[in-house]
Amino acid sequence: MLRSTKETKELFNQWAQSYDQDLENASGPLLGYEQSLAISKELLSIKKNAKLLDIGIGTGAFSSLLSETDTEVWGIDISEDMVIQCEKKHPEYYLKVGTFSEPNVDQTFDYIVSSFCFHEVLPDQRKQALQNGSDLLKSGGKLLLLDIMFASKQAVQDGKEAIGEYWDSTGDYPIIGELDAMLRETGFINAHWIQTGPYHWAVLADKNNEITRNSPLK
Ligand SMILES: C[S@@+](CC[C@H](N)C(=O)[O-])C[C@H]1O[C@@H](n2cnc3c(N)ncnc32)[C@H](O)[C@@H]1O
Repeated sequence: MLRSTKETKELFNQWAQSYDQDLENASGPLLGYEQSLAISKELLSIKKNAKLLDIGIGTGAFSSLLSETDTEVWGIDISEDMVIQCEKKHPEYYLKVGTFSEPNVDQTFDYIVSSFCFHEVLPDQRKQALQNGSDLLKSGGKLLLLDIMFASKQAVQDGKEAIGEYWDSTGDYPIIGELDAMLRETGFINAHWIQTGPYHWAVLADKNNEITRNSPLK
């Protein structure tokens, strides 16, 4: 059975203290974690002095790779304890408790990134989550999602067998074709997909500037 949003919050509150240490030797579905972050940073190819929102920022692993680009980093996370850990490491970031569904930010951004978080959004809330992301991007903005994802239902089965006891049966990892379609339906174009690890894919997409919505932030 899928984990509820409340259970997800509790899980990450419990994990916050030891998260960085545990990820030093990432295994199971997170195998290749650091390499995936590094490849995604290259894919993003961020311009200098940009304003970025990291959704599900955790302890700041992805955004901290951008320290040489003078990026203004905003971060939201469902877990208060992850936000506390991130604040300790990165007092210069603008951090808040917030989620894909209720971002809790009144700004717009050049970039939105999210690493290893999107699969935590319940499947029936994913389309709205992407729409919220699109609404929070400035015209010309870009979205980068890096996550545990699979190319097809067969690839999910193969991954499940390979990962064995470390497979998380309380989660639902996105299928690329389904997510690609959802991106197109929520105001994104030019989705560029790349496999970054054995079970990881990243997608970089542009906000479709032709679409205007009645967002309160515009
Ligand atoms: C596996 S950790 C990844 C953290 C960090 N981005 C990284 O790459 O190390 C997933 C993070 O997403 C957060 N999270 C889970 N569901 C979320 C949601 N719906 N909205 C925002 N954050 C969420 C968790 O609290 C946790 O910090």
